[in-house]
Amino acid sequence: MSNGDVSQGRRRFLIGATSVVGGVGVVGAAVPFVASWNPSAKAEAAGAPVTVNISKIEPGQQVTVEWRGKPVWIIRRTPEMLENIKKLSERVKDPESESPQQPPYIEGEFRALNPEYGVYIGLCTHLGCVPTYRPEVAPADLGENWLGGLFCPCHGSRYDLAGRVFQAQPAPLNLEVPPYRFDDDSTLTIGLDPEAA
Ligand code: FES
Repeated sequence: MSNGDVSQGRRRFLIGATSVVGGVGVVGAAVPFVASWNPSAKAEAAGAPVTVNISKIEPGQQVTVEWRGKPVWIIRRTPEMLENIKKLSERVKDPESESPQQPPYIEGEFRALNPEYGVYIGLCTHLGCVPTYRPEVAPADLGENWLGGLFCPCHGSRYDLAGRVFQAQPAPLNLEVPPYRFDDDSTLTIGLDPEAA
């Protein structure tokens, strides 16, 4: 083997070694992004934000996602549901949620950033049972005054579709609204305020 062959071989080795280092660098840089897209169950339990694709939620449908170990409901409300929420303001305990159960940027009777999507922690404010989603109007078991809402099976507390508790119920407060924001038309993140970076 001539000297020329040796240096040729060494150059090839050095190029190969550099490529491997470069490859490791790329993998190392990619990991934090992957971790932020798919937070582990442990990270979610510790309070990491949860991003939800809302584009597949049908009008009138409710979906549940877990955030900080709690069920969070996203309810896509139809125009009829929003009309019914307005009609119920006289019958709920705290129509404008003056007892703070929500971030300061959540205001009004719909208790939402966008009236079409209600986002609530699905735990009854009485003793913490999970209420049932009952969007029907006047079902036999809930009576003709029922315009769609949430019913707690433990002691019978009733809420409307904005999570507002009716008067004379065991539950003292409206359902809690978690911090959340819309990243775009089809993506919502629970656990981050709208102004968060
Ligand atoms: S826990 Fe819901 S009414 Fe008691």
